[in-house]
Amino acid sequence: MLPIFNPRKVMAKGFYPRIKDLMPVLMKDFYDRLFSDIMIGFFFAPFDKQELIDKQIGFMTVMFGGPNSYKGLSLRKVHLPLNIFEGQFNRRHQILKETLEDHKVDSDIREDWLRLDLSLKDKILKSESCHD
Ligand code: HEM
Repeated sequence: MLPIFNPRKVMAKGFYPRIKDLMPVLMKDFYDRLFSDIMIGFFFAPFDKQELIDKQIGFMTVMFGGPNSYKGLSLRKVHLPLNIFEGQFNRRHQILKETLEDHKVDSDIREDWLRLDLSLKDKILKSESCHD
């Protein structure tokens, strides 16, 4: 089991300046892969790809201690109506892992990013027992 993700620890490591320039290219590739994925692509199809990319960049910028320009909604509220199951979450997580590896993101950043992603599972999955 990976330890619980701690955003403060990540900020203290100063990841944002190291990842900022790569972020737009990496996110574009990530969303290209998500949109064309045979298993979970249908979730994304009705939405504007560039808008999702921009929101995801904003969200990860804050997570990595960069300037807070994220104007998005609560992750739970946004994802609840999508009825996402664990296997679908895991598929997205695997695609993220492959994208980070293919772009040669440094292993310390990559590990914290993946840990953060997993720590958000409860907010993303269809669930009646969890509340904000
Ligand atoms: C299989 C898993 C996931 C699927 C299928 C999925 C799908 C989507 C879709 C379709 C939207 C647009 C919803 C809308 O505008 O109404 C969205 C928004 C968003 N997702 Fe996900 N998502 C998943 C997991 C995640 C995870 C793990 C994160 C966090 C790292 C995340 C972060 C976001 C953010 C920040 C937004 C924008 C929220 C906003 O509009 O304010 N998603 N997602």
